[in-house]
Order: sequence, then C-alpha cells, then structure tokens
Amino acid sequence: MTGIIRYYLFIKSKKNNMKFMSFMLVTGALTTLVFSCNNSSESKEAPASKPGITKTDWGQVDGKQVYLFTLVNSKGTEVTISNYGGTVTSFVTADKNGKRSSIIVGFDSLNQYLQKPPYFGALIGRYGNRIGDAKFTLDGKTYQLAANDGKNTLHGGLKGFDKVVWDATAPSDSVPSLTLKYLSKDGEEGYPGNLNVAVQYTLTNDDELKIEYNAETDKATPINLTNHSYFNLSGDLSNTILGNTLTIDANNYTPVDSTLIPAGEIKAVKGTPFDFTSPKKIGRDIGLVKGGYDHNWVLNKKDSSLQKVAELSDSISGRSVEVYTTQPGLQFYTGNFLDGKFINHDGKPIQQHTALCLETQHFPDSPNKPAFPSTILKPGEKYHSITIYKVKLN
Ligand code: BGC
Repeated sequence: MTGIIRYYLFIKSKKNNMKFMSFMLVTGALTTLVFSCNNSSESKEAPASKPGITKTDWGQVDGKQVYLFTLVNSKGTEVTISNYGGTVTSFVTADKNGKRSSIIVGFDSLNQYLQKPPYFGALIGRYGNRIGDAKFTLDGKTYQLAANDGKNTLHGGLKGFDKVVWDATAPSDSVPSLTLKYLSKDGEEGYPGNLNVAVQYTLTNDDELKIEYNAETDKATPINLTNHSYFNLSGDLSNTILGNTLTIDANNYTPVDSTLIPAGEIKAVKGTPFDFTSPKKIGRDIGLVKGGYDHNWVLNKKDSSLQKVAELSDSISGRSVEVYTTQPGLQFYTGNFLDGKFINHDGKPIQQHTALCLETQHFPDSPNKPAFPSTILKPGEKYHSITIYKVKLN
C-alpha cells in the first residue's frame, strides 16, 4: 500500500468515525429527548450510568409492555425496577473497597420472574403476609380469598400485585423517581372494592430507596402493602446472612401457630431469641427458632410518623441498611424456604439464609384479629405509607 493510499484510507476512516460519532450523538440526544417528552415511548436504551432514569423494553405479559427502569443517583448508585410486579430487580451500591454489586437478589430476565420465585423484590398487595383460612368477615359479609399457602392466603393470593403489569411514569426530575399505578378491580382475588393504588419509588442522592404507597377504594377493604426485597448486603451469595448484625426497635412480636398465622397474642421479646433491641448477630439465636425467623415485630413507635425502626449491618462489605417506616410492624424473614432452585444475577443459587427480608407492614391476619391495628380502608379515606431503605458504609 502506498503512502498516499494509506493516508486516504486513514482520512476516510476518520471521516467515517466522525460521521458515526455524530450519528450516535444525534441518535442519543433524540432518544433522550423522546424519553423525557413521552414516558410511554418504547425506546431501548443502555443501562444508565449518569444520574437520571432510563427505560428499556423487557418483554410482554398479559399483552402489556413490560419495562425495566434504571434509577441512578449522583453517587452512581443504581436501582432497577420493572413495572412487572413493581419489582426491584437490583440495587447496586459500592462496598467499602469501592466494588459495586447488588445488595438484593434478583434476575436479569423477565422469564425468570415468570417462573414464580418467592416474591423477589416485588410489590405485595392487596394484603402482605397471611390471612388465616383465606377468609375474613367485614360489615357482616364473609369474603373467601384464594388459599395459596396451605389453607391460608399469602401476599395477595394467586395473582397478587407482584404478578400484574403496572402503568409506569417516570418524570424527568433531578432526583430519579418512578410512579407505578394499578387498578385492582372489585372482587379481584376475592377482595371487595375497586382499589386504585399508586406506588412511587425514589432514589435519593443519600442512597435512600424511598417507597411511597397511596391507595383509595370505593368499598371497605383490607389493605397491607409492602415490598418484598431480599437483602444480602455482601452482594455475594456465597455469604449467608447469619453473620449480619440486626437491630429492630421492637420490644414485642406476634407469636405464630404452625401455619405462621399470629396466635393473637403480643409477646415481649425480652429473654427470647426474638430480642433484637440491641445489635445482635442473626445466627446467634436462629437455631432456637423452629424453621428460622419469619415473624412480625411490633414496632415501638407509637404513631404513624416516619421513624427509623431497624438497622442491618454486614462486616464483609462494610455496608449497612437503615429501615425507616410509617408502618406499625416489620416482618423479619430469614429466607427459610429458599432452596437453591433460583439462580441470582451473580450466578449463585439462592439458598436458605442467603438473603433476608425486612418487610414493613401491618400485622399478619389483622382482618381476623380485632385487637390488632385496623387494616380496613374505607371509601373517602386515603391509604398512605412510606418506607425508606437507606444504604451506608459503616
Ligand atoms: C413470609 C414467608 C414467606 C415469604 C415468601 C414472607 O413474607 O413471611 O413466610 O415464605 O414471604 O413467600
């Protein structure tokens, strides 16, 4: 090749590169523009790395489009959420060495979520946790619900809020947030009333994942909304959660029967394995609790203001998560039924005690337990609750 030809090819390839680059820049700008102007557009975008929110097509369920939204804050922390089940699929933060990994379990593909995993990262409704014998009586009428957990109903029934496609909107604000809406029709899963639900996820620049729940109904109905993320703060499922340290601001819990329905009693944790009033390793007393922890703690807070109720710490990664809520209860579940059937996005099987849940909620079976705080939402009332998971380095 002569020098002239080589020079010509160099210039040509440079020009092509330039053309390609300008094409990419214009396309990128247009895509961003389209996305910020029209949230229902079906743009395919690479995962975000700059603060903001991006949206990717993820498949279809029930003839509806499913998306993945990635919220990124100024620290580069990323939370990915799907409008399928309002599922938080990953929550990527840096550990004490700056290594980034997801602190919750999840999958990369929609198909894996369709295999009915045990509610990984999902929004739960209408009723989080169990209602005994899958029925309740309200205003003299008995409502029969789906028995999807032995004779009880669990997490909303056969097709709870974790298995429906929510309508999503993502305003282009400086603090990334995603609003999901769902109309649960009168009679759905046996529950009365048309229930309009809106859940807003926000990722703040302080590494807080804030979840705000709102709902209204046209007939009285029980409601107990929560999120079912499973945490492994080390980001590596070869470490169990038994070495994590947990504090729960609760002097009492609700003991359960053999089917995990509260007996109705509110019992002091003092002197029992349920005492997490000061920081304690989860593995210390778990052997004393048949099956592991899967109970509702009665939070000490006296009203529905937003307060810190729990803190979980992991010494391997140096990460902690603080839990704030307006709710009266916390279901601490040590992943007792996880059996390795599902593979986490890090390629590792999700085994027993490799992840745990801190589900903020009203007490299980409240519709059948008049002594528990009421979970009945009436027409004209507004259901509103807030929970924050704040990640920090120790
Ligand atoms: C319940 C567990 C259940 C798990 C997954 C938790 O909220 O308390 O008993 O196995 O969810 O369904």
